[in-house]
This record gives sequence, structure tokens and C-alpha cells, in this order.
Amino acid sequence: MACSTDPDGGDEAGAGDEALGELRFAVLAATQSGNALLVADMVAERLIRRGAKAAYVLDEGRYPGGDLADCDVLVACVASHGEGDVPDGFREVYQALIAGRPDLSHLRYGLVGLGDRTYATFCGGAWKVDALLQMLGARRIGEPCTIDASLQPFPDEEALAWLEAWLPELWRAPPQEMRASAGLTGRR
Ligand SMILES: Cc1cc2nc3c(=O)[nH]c(=O)nc-3n(C[C@H](O)[C@H](O)[C@H](O)COP(=O)(O)O)c2cc1C
Repeated sequence: MACSTDPDGGDEAGAGDEALGELRFAVLAATQSGNALLVADMVAERLIRRGAKAAYVLDEGRYPGGDLADCDVLVACVASHGEGDVPDGFREVYQALIAGRPDLSHLRYGLVGLGDRTYATFCGGAWKVDALLQMLGARRIGEPCTIDASLQPFPDEEALAWLEAWLPELWRAPPQEMRASAGLTGRR
């Protein structure tokens, strides 16, 4: 799903929102049973209502390499399955990113982990994606949001509350400086 700027979406404008108009977001949905996709859709919708230039949801089957090269900020919404693993449908993408090692040093990101504290490996899949993004040069902004399905039946509500607190941290963080040297300047 791709979202573009909605001119009627400014009803929740807040401090710093003008900066959003300069930013292209990708919102990754690494999901198995749909919760992370729901969260990603709601996050993208909120970003557009805030005035983001674009917010693209990357879900199963859509390899994010090119999209990540073309966006400024990633919000990674990642569920955990198995024993702290990424969801089955995301595993191929995850392995391809490890193998391909794209340079993501232009990218800032926020992390939303969906898990369940009754598992020993709470949000293990999200932490794996966190480590991968950092290995590829991306810079995480702020603390992750970790949502415990054993307590929280409405993950989108928790994620949107986190997003509201996270955006001001994003304003304060300077953009990554590696885009030009990574040869990605002309791809926007
Ligand atoms: C078979 C199975 C294994 C799971 N393993 C973990 C786990 O290792 N760690 C964790 O934090 N949550 C685990 N969970 C909980 C899910 O991450 C949680 O329900 C999440 O909301 C699912 O998101 P999704 O609908 O996007 O796949 C597991 C759930 C299932 C059904």
C-alpha cells in the first residue's frame, strides 16, 4: 500500500509537523497473523495526516531494498514468531538484506516490536531486525516500542501513542549524512 499526502489530513497538526513535509517514510510490516500489518497501516495513515511527503507500507512479498534507498525514515513494525524469529513471510527478505548488504547509512528508523511476554524471547524478531538495520548503517532514533500481546489487545493504540512521542525525537535528530557518498542522491 502506498500513501501520498492528503491535503485534508491536517486536523491533528502539531509542533514540528512542517518538517514532515520534507520526509518520505517507509513503514515495514513484518507480520504472520496480521497485527504488525494493522499497526503499519495505522502508522502510515497517521504520518500522512501529519503531512508526511509519502508513507509507503512494505508488506509481504515486497522486497524493501529499493524502497529503503528512496526513503528518509523507516518505521519497522516487526512481529516475533517461532522462538524469537522474524515472521516466516519476512524471512526471505531478511536473509536477502543480510546477503546483499545494501548501504542504509542515509536512513533513520524507529522500531515497533510486536511480541508476547509469555515467550522467553520477547520481541526477539524485532531485535534481530534492529541489529540488521544497524549493521547496514541505519541509525535508530529513540527507544523501541515493544507491544505485549498478552496485555495489549489493541497494538495500534500503543503504537500510535509511541509514534506521537517519537516524532519530536526525530525532529531533533539530524539527518544521516551518508546519502551522497552512498551514491543514492539521484534516486529520489
Ligand atoms: C507460534 C507463535 C510463536 C510466537 N513466538 C513469539 C516469540 O518468540 N516472542 C514473542 O515475543 N512473541 C511471540 N509470539 C507472539 C506474537 O509475536 C504476537 O502475537 C504478535 O502480536 C503477532 O503479530 P503478527 O500478527 O503481526 O504476526 C508468538 C506467537 C505465535 C502464534
